[in-house]
Amino acid sequence: MGLLDSFLADPGRAPFAGAAPTVSWREDDDPAWGQELTGAGAEPLELARRGRSHGRVALLADPGARRPRPSQARHLWQRARPICLPGELTPLLRDWRNELHRALLRADELATGPGLATFLERALGGRGARFRPDGELDRVDPERDLARIAAADSQAPGRRLWAKSGRLSTFPADRSLRLRFGFGEEVADDDSRDEPSHRALAALARTACPEVALVEGARDLWGYVAEAAGAKLYPTGTIVYWNEPEGGARLHHDAFRDDDTGGQRGVCYAQLAGSTFWLALSSGDLARRAIEFHDLLAAGEMPWLREELGDAPIDTLGELSRDPGALSRELSRPDQGRLGPLLDRGPEFTLFLVDSGHGVLLGPGDVLLLPNHGLVRTAMHSVFCASPGRTLALSFGLRQAR
Ligand SMILES: [Fe+2]
Repeated sequence: MGLLDSFLADPGRAPFAGAAPTVSWREDDDPAWGQELTGAGAEPLELARRGRSHGRVALLADPGARRPRPSQARHLWQRARPICLPGELTPLLRDWRNELHRALLRADELATGPGLATFLERALGGRGARFRPDGELDRVDPERDLARIAAADSQAPGRRLWAKSGRLSTFPADRSLRLRFGFGEEVADDDSRDEPSHRALAALARTACPEVALVEGARDLWGYVAEAAGAKLYPTGTIVYWNEPEGGARLHHDAFRDDDTGGQRGVCYAQLAGSTFWLALSSGDLARRAIEFHDLLAAGEMPWLREELGDAPIDTLGELSRDPGALSRELSRPDQGRLGPLLDRGPEFTLFLVDSGHGVLLGPGDVLLLPNHGLVRTAMHSVFCASPGRTLALSFGLRQAR
């Protein structure tokens, strides 16, 4: 067995369900490792986000990669482990190429604050249309939000829908944008259980952004989601993402409360143009990997981390490693709380997770499912742009239909 085969078969590594394998590919690796990767046809990818390098990974092709069987998906879903559905939407992309092209260009219009109002005026249609723009709303995050516009729904005059455009970060070189749809009070109503409003929000997104129907209309995908989740789920909370180089998202979860049983049951992310690279794993697996990472540091590996970051984050991880509940709570805090400086520092923890099997490249047509059962059992995820230019993706919150 070659170096690479034995590395991939290592019992300490958990293969990413449905995905082709990815491993680290450091500049200073043993030349034999580099030759092995090159011989296997690996493609290098530099991971960078907001001016910070997270190292280099090797993307390995696996023509046999396919979505897990429904029975296996059910098992993964219950454990909040992410599920990759490679090429799930690929057969549809050709028929939708004009809509996808226009969707990619939409980011140019939304990049300026007034662009959202102009776009909605045009996209929602004139007289007789169900939705119409209904004035500007406040911006909750003035540093990143570009505009938020209300939308009136002729089918329910009291309903308060909105669309919001914004940047993904304040890092100057990160041009990534998103367009998000919601209703009611932003933040306070994000986890509302009001199904008619969620359905109206989804209809608004579908009207404004035709490419939404590509994903929502993929019947086989939704049948699979229902089998995996063991419940009929519907997509809402639509977000269009245009990730660009240096963009992405730091490690986070999309859970709202301790127990999300009647609320958001997961997220469906669909890559439509360009590529993104993800770290994704259940919150339980993340806690286990953080403890293993601390074991390496305690054994004297990566000594520069203590020199650069000081003792605090590593000692905190050591203390929390002995208290699984406290460790999980810290990891679920925004930017991992006191552990953030260590875990988001750059290549060390990122490549450790990649080598443990938790990295996945998503290309056009690939779908990623992120199950959620609440703060203590959810899919954690971190996103990098993997294309030299603009990418396009859609994400949906998944909720149980009454
Ligand atoms: Fe997320």
